[in-house]
Amino acid sequence: MSELQKPDMRPENPEFSSGPCAKRPGYSLQALENAVLGRSHRSKPGKAKLAEAIDRTRHVLGVPQTYKIAIVPASDTGAYEMAMWSMLGARGLDILGWESFGKGWITDAVKQLQIEDIRVLEADYGHLPDLGAVDFTRDVAFTWNGTTSGVCVPNGAWIAADRAGLTLCDATSAAFAMPLPWDKLDVATYSWQKGLGGEAAHGMVVLSPRAVERLESYTPPWPLPKIFRLTKAGKLLDGIFRGETINTPSMLAVEDYLDTLKWAESLGGLDGLLARVGRNNKVLIDWVGATDWVDFLCTEAVNRSTSSVCLKIIDSDITALPEEQQAGFAKRLAALLDEEGVAYDIGAHRDAPAGLRIWAGATVEASDLSALTGWLDWGLMTAKQEL
Ligand SMILES: Cc1ncc(COP(=O)(O)O)c(C=O)c1O
Repeated sequence: MSELQKPDMRPENPEFSSGPCAKRPGYSLQALENAVLGRSHRSKPGKAKLAEAIDRTRHVLGVPQTYKIAIVPASDTGAYEMAMWSMLGARGLDILGWESFGKGWITDAVKQLQIEDIRVLEADYGHLPDLGAVDFTRDVAFTWNGTTSGVCVPNGAWIAADRAGLTLCDATSAAFAMPLPWDKLDVATYSWQKGLGGEAAHGMVVLSPRAVERLESYTPPWPLPKIFRLTKAGKLLDGIFRGETINTPSMLAVEDYLDTLKWAESLGGLDGLLARVGRNNKVLIDWVGATDWVDFLCTEAVNRSTSSVCLKIIDSDITALPEEQQAGFAKRLAALLDEEGVAYDIGAHRDAPAGLRIWAGATVEASDLSALTGWLDWGLMTAKQEL
């Protein structure tokens, strides 16, 4: 069997993982030289770094001054579970899930917190649940972008402005890649390892004044570990929102996060990031439109993720195979590109249908995505030759 001619162009950076995501262009460990290492995080310089991370976050994401921002342990999972454990149970809950992460939060609410007055609104991979069915007199928990299906909510128009309940939004793979309407979000969380290619370890919690009110007026019936506690004797622990973290943070990860934020500012902030994301998506949309073997997993264009782009293989030779073999084929395609050193970590998430997932957030270069598409075509043909 003859070897297919390989494309001339190679992505300069083969990092297309959906988390941890690609480092920003030009990144090197020199960016961490000024980290406050070997010092207490409660020292003057340590606290200054943590406060700077909060201030720059507010600036880049356009978070209103009336909202509180905290750096918390355990990445987005820690941030979102802290919010669920601290605030849920005060009123009925509508919880939405359409892929692995959202469904994980449903498990938390149903099996762990055992919230009695709960309505679960679910959809399968590729779709959104009926957003029109959500009742905003209740609390509402949802994921802005389903990282494992590449399906996101289209905007915040479906969220009631005059809601009585709180909205709790897991915005992990949306922050820095999609506009977030702060007036519609009472709690938003994300981790550093996604949109700006930072390090894991820490999560961010952004709270509206109404979320703070809930924290100060409501005591959940279940025990709260210290790592989740945002209040003491019914008062918000205000220092947490100035960088006096609950426990010891990694100051190396903090320095890295600061580097990502400064890079974002150098591009003009969120607008600059979104412009890059837009260019990246155009490359993939044009290629999918012109390519007959691939399609988006997301069925509606308005709900298509601009960060975690999930693709399915629709070549009739492949779709004719039993499901297990289709999954094996997609894995082989991803492995071929990995072996060539042109694309790492582009296989679909382990819980998702067979296919590919390509991160198209701001730290990825459009030229690299463009080069990648040639290799995807090569990978398809090469993997088919092996069948
Ligand atoms: C939507 C969503 N929620 C939560 C997580 C968990 O994030 P972490 O591992 O940073 O806690 C992820 C990670 O990919 C995610 O994509």
